[in-house]
Amino acid sequence: MCGIVGYSGKNEASSILVEGLSKLEYRGYDSAGVAILDDGKINVSKCKGRLVNLENKLKSSPLKGNVGIGHTRWATHGEPSDVNAHPHNNNDNTISVVHNGIIENYMELKSWLKSKGYKFVSETDTEVIPNLIDYFYNGDLLDAVMKAISKVEGSYALGVVCSNEPNKIVAVRKDSPLIVGAGKDENFIASDVPAILNHTRDIYYLKDKEFAVLTSEGVEFYSNEGEKIEKELNHIEWDANAAEKGGYEHFMLKEIYEQPKAIKDTMTSRIIEDQPIKLDDINITKEQIENIEKIYIVACGTAYHAGIVGKYAIEKLARIPVEVDIASEFRYRNPIITKNTLMIVLSQSGETADTLAALREAKSLGARVIAITNVVGSSVSREADDILYTWAGPEIAVASTKAYTTQLITMYILALFFAQNKNTLTNEEIENIKADMLKLPEKAKEVLDNKERVQKFASNTYMHKDMFYLGRGIDYAVAMEGALKLKEISYIHSEAYAGGELKHGTIALIENGTVVVALATQNDLYEKMVSNIKEVTTRGAKVLGITVEGRTGMDEFVDSVIYVPKVNDILLPVLSVIQLQLLAYYVSVEKGCDVDKPRNLAKSVTVE
Ligand code: M6R
Repeated sequence: MCGIVGYSGKNEASSILVEGLSKLEYRGYDSAGVAILDDGKINVSKCKGRLVNLENKLKSSPLKGNVGIGHTRWATHGEPSDVNAHPHNNNDNTISVVHNGIIENYMELKSWLKSKGYKFVSETDTEVIPNLIDYFYNGDLLDAVMKAISKVEGSYALGVVCSNEPNKIVAVRKDSPLIVGAGKDENFIASDVPAILNHTRDIYYLKDKEFAVLTSEGVEFYSNEGEKIEKELNHIEWDANAAEKGGYEHFMLKEIYEQPKAIKDTMTSRIIEDQPIKLDDINITKEQIENIEKIYIVACGTAYHAGIVGKYAIEKLARIPVEVDIASEFRYRNPIITKNTLMIVLSQSGETADTLAALREAKSLGARVIAITNVVGSSVSREADDILYTWAGPEIAVASTKAYTTQLITMYILALFFAQNKNTLTNEEIENIKADMLKLPEKAKEVLDNKERVQKFASNTYMHKDMFYLGRGIDYAVAMEGALKLKEISYIHSEAYAGGELKHGTIALIENGTVVVALATQNDLYEKMVSNIKEVTTRGAKVLGITVEGRTGMDEFVDSVIYVPKVNDILLPVLSVIQLQLLAYYVSVEKGCDVDKPRNLAKSVTVE
C-alpha cells in the first residue's frame, strides 16, 4: 500500500529514488513522484500512472540535488491523479512529505488547519501532514514532525524534507513499514529492503513511533518522547538478484518456478529423516501444546487459504480443533479467547494491517501467538510470541505463489510438531509423512516440467467470462486459492465451491460451455467428487480435471485431465496448486493483462 523511499547523500538523488521506487512499485502503481532539495528549494515532480511516466517526465525536466524523497501510490483517499500524487507540500513549498498509511482524523485536522488559513489542493488525507508540520515549525524539523504526529490518528510511514534544513530527512512510522539503510556517506529510508539493496545491506528496523533523522553523515534515532536512542544494525544476507526477474518474463513466473527450492528451504533443518522435529525459533512448551484447547488461524487472501489447509492438517494430525478466520472479520467479532487458545497468524509480508490488528487483539485477550511470515523483522514477526519464517525469499509479484506453498509446508511442519508433542500419531506415521514431504521439491519440479496441458487449457479458455473451481475437503481449500489467483490477475470472474454444495444453488449457473476446474486428488473423496463432476458435465460444462498420477478413467468424462505426482493425500495441495497458479498465469498472459501488477491491487495491504 504505497511505497516510500528517501535519500540523503553525495550522489544525485533523482535516479536513486526512481530506482528505489521501481523495486517498490509492487506496493502500488496509481501514481509516482519525487521531491528533491536543491539550493534551498524543494522541487517536486509527480504524475498519475506507472513509474515510467515519472521517469519520462524527469528525463525531459530533470531535478538536481542530493537529498530527496519518493513515493509510489496505491490510492485510498482521492482518485489516482497528478494532484493527488505524493509528495505533498505545505502552502509555501518549504516542507514536503511522502506518506504510506491512512490519517483517520484528517477531516477534523483539515478543517482546523483551514480555520488557521491553510489551503488544500488535493483530496488526500496526507496533505494535512505538511501543513500540520508547517504549523508547528519553529526552526527544528524533528520537533515539528513530533508535534504534528501527536495530533494524528491512523497509520503512517513518513519521509519529510524541509528547505530550511536542506541535508535532512525526518522519518517516522506507526503501523506502516519503514526501514532505514545505512551507507557510506549516504543514508536511506524505504518501505522495504529491495528498494535500497543495491546501495546498502545494513538496515535499521524502526518500531512504531520511533523517529529517524538522516543526513549524508549519519542517522540518529529518537523515541516518541524525544529521547535519543540506540538501535541495532541488521545485515541483510539476501542475494540482490533474488529481487530481479532473472530472465523470466514476469516475477510471477519466476516465483512459480522458484517453488521447488523455496519448499526445500522451508524444510531445511526442520524436517530431517529419523529425527524428531525441532523448531529452534519457537519456544512453546510441550505442556502448553498439550493444553491447547483451540487454535485460531487468522490471515488474509492467499495466506487465509493456506490457513484453511492448515486447519485440515492440524485437525487430522494433531487432533486440535481449529477455526480459520479472515483477519478483518476476526477482530470485530469478539472472539472467545482463553489462556489455552493459540493463535497462528499467516502473512507473507508480515505487515498486513488487518492481520496485525487481529494479532494484537488476540494478544491483548491473553492468547499465545505464533507468526508464520516470510519477511524477517516484519511487524508480525516482532509482535508474535513465536515466529516461523517461511524462507521463500522475496516475493515481488502481487499474486502470491511461493509464499503460499511455503506457508503450506510450514503448516504441515507445525501440525506434525503438535502431533509429535501430543502423541496423536505414531513415530512411523510421522516418519512416513516426513518422507513424502522431503520428496515435494522434486515432485514440484515434475509438475513444472509438465506444464503443457495446463498451458493448452489456458489458451482454449482465456476468453471466458466465468470459471468455477470445485473440490471437496482439502481440495476445496485449494480450489479457493485457484479461483483467487485467476480473478486477481486475469479479471475473469471465478468462484470456488465445495463439490457437494453445488446442488444447493450454484448449479443453476452451469450451462453449455461453462468452464469448471475440478480437483479430485483425495482418495477418500474421489467417488463423491466424480459424481459432482458428472453433475456439471451433464449440464454442458467444459471440465479440466486435476487428479493424482496412477488414477485412470477420468479422461472418459472430462475434457482435459492433468495429473499431479502421488504423495500422501494431505500434502497434495502443494502440487495441485502449482497447476492452478500456472493456469492463472497463462490465462493472464493470453489476455494480455499486466501479470505482476494487476489493476486496483497492491502487494502489501497496510491499511484497514
Ligand atoms: O502479506 P500477506 O500474506 O499478509 O498478504 C495477504 C493478502 O493480501 C495476499 O495474500 C493477497 O491475497 C495476494 N494478492 C494474493 O495473491
